[in-house]
Amino acid sequence: MCGIVGYIGQRRAYDILVQGLHRLEYRGYDSSGVAMISDAAELNIYKSKGKVEALEHFAANKDLSGTIGIAHTRWATHGEPNDTNAHPHFSQSGRLAMVHNGTIENYSVLKKALSAHGYTFVSQTDTEVAVQLVEYIMDTNHCSLFDAMCEATKRIVGAYAFAVIDRQNPNQIIAARQSSPLVIGIGEGEYFLASDATPIIEYTNKVVYLDDGDIAVIDRGAELKVFDSKTTSKSRVEITELQMSIEQLEKGGYPHFMLKEIFEQPKTLADCISGRVSADGKKITLSGVIEHRSKFLKTKRIIIVACGTSWHAALIGKHLIEEYCRIPVVVEYASEFRYANPVVNQGDILIALSQSGETADTLAALELAKSRGAFVFGICNVIGSSIPRATHSGCYIHVGPEIGVASTKAFTGQVTVLAMMAMLIGQMKGTVDDATLERVATDIRRVPTLIKDIFTKNDKKIEELAKIFTYAHNFLYLGRGYNYPSALEGALKLKEISYIHAEGYPAAEMKHGTIALIDNDMPSVVIAIKDNVYEKTVNNIQQVKARGGKVVAIVTEGDTIVAQMADYVIEVPEISECLTPLLTAIPLQLLAYYIAVNKGRNVDQPRNLAKSVTVE
Ligand code: G6P
Repeated sequence: MCGIVGYIGQRRAYDILVQGLHRLEYRGYDSSGVAMISDAAELNIYKSKGKVEALEHFAANKDLSGTIGIAHTRWATHGEPNDTNAHPHFSQSGRLAMVHNGTIENYSVLKKALSAHGYTFVSQTDTEVAVQLVEYIMDTNHCSLFDAMCEATKRIVGAYAFAVIDRQNPNQIIAARQSSPLVIGIGEGEYFLASDATPIIEYTNKVVYLDDGDIAVIDRGAELKVFDSKTTSKSRVEITELQMSIEQLEKGGYPHFMLKEIFEQPKTLADCISGRVSADGKKITLSGVIEHRSKFLKTKRIIIVACGTSWHAALIGKHLIEEYCRIPVVVEYASEFRYANPVVNQGDILIALSQSGETADTLAALELAKSRGAFVFGICNVIGSSIPRATHSGCYIHVGPEIGVASTKAFTGQVTVLAMMAMLIGQMKGTVDDATLERVATDIRRVPTLIKDIFTKNDKKIEELAKIFTYAHNFLYLGRGYNYPSALEGALKLKEISYIHAEGYPAAEMKHGTIALIDNDMPSVVIAIKDNVYEKTVNNIQQVKARGGKVVAIVTEGDTIVAQMADYVIEVPEISECLTPLLTAIPLQLLAYYIAVNKGRNVDQPRNLAKSVTVE
């Protein structure tokens, strides 16, 4: 979380910085700010609480000149979101300006030491401590900014992506990375710097991803140099070509990214499947799995670590892998796993499931498992992000940039990849026979068309339904088996973007407590598709109805039994049971979306949230 942008070249830096901040706003939107060295050699910093728009308003009549600058959009960690705590931060003399994504764990010790040397602080942030430290080192060691940054990074404990500029040198940006992402775009005589590639793609498709411990020296008009901050030896600069297109970063006529991303799913899932499931449904190809075939054949256990929506996809993955591969699967919240001293055995496979590939807890969990001898496998969306770079192997979900903070198309992409993996590993192990493979693989290929069908038949209906429930204060989401995680995900979608309290529950577990909450004012959304526990779910619906609860049921097309009991019914087409979460997700996403819109919420940027959680 937090996004940083930098520019050095011939253009007015401000325009590029602000456009970049808009692209990165999904990473945090508590405040934003820019620092530029002006044509008059002043170091101008403009910052403002709130969204980038507020910054633009604030900066409108200021001196916006300069062809070098850094910028930041913040998700507050240290210090409340206000103008003072907004980045960039000045050093004591006003000579340096710094932006930072991450958290500095030993900042209070460093602050104390600097205070003892007469340094004063205007903000509560850890970043101000870092920039003061750099200036202190420059002054006491009489060294360059680069040398001071190398030294400062040795003293700082924590996660950071830093970008610093020096008023006395308008021709250089220094950037450093440890556990927080940084990408440098290489243009014609200009460089771009950002937390991810989205602010860069409209200018160049040539990028360099910094690794942990790297310090980049970005000099105007000179070759990009990257060093190891510990040894100060030069590292190889590896240029990667971006596959992203600018259209993928626009709303494409939709009022919100979230709605665009929901409606994109037929296409994104077709991309996800493309080249992986053969036309006759007889073969699944996932090179990241096939190349490590023996690991998957021998493993006694798979651990999946994830957070948020990805954790829900992981729960579906557990069902899939256990059912079709007969390998025990443990699903853990990455944040719990990393501090639990978990049992990790040689031969265990750990799957890190993450849309962004940057979630700090998931990354730390995978590093821990790797250090204990596990084979680590990543399932991510953002190409070149930290998790895929830290794993032994993996598989991208290929659903394109997801900008809406609430995850939609990444969820269905993750479930699709997990389904393909389960089929492939099952086939390799002999736990999936040819007929099952062909049936499920053929159904995977049908998913994009079936989702289109759901849109045609249900979009307007759900929009209407949402009007009825917009003013509910609580919701219950119930499901069983493969669709218990769907219930959790449906509830999370509603909470995230509408701020309505919602709980997801295994339908049968409801009677052990949650049923006490049911009354006329508490609607239940029940996923009651035709699966192996269908009759049981029907009973659960009756239990809700008997207590005066309202029921919105998601059912299999043609269902007449639930239709008679539920107050409202949304149909999804029939498909192999293990793939039903891919279809039931769609009405749940739409319902949450329309309720949030009716409530006037900022759907793409819900309060207090950020898309890429790069802090603990
Ligand atoms: C944040 C996002 C969620 C996401 C979670 C995990 O909380 O708002 O949408 O599911 O992080 O992110 P990841 O990128 O690891 O899937």
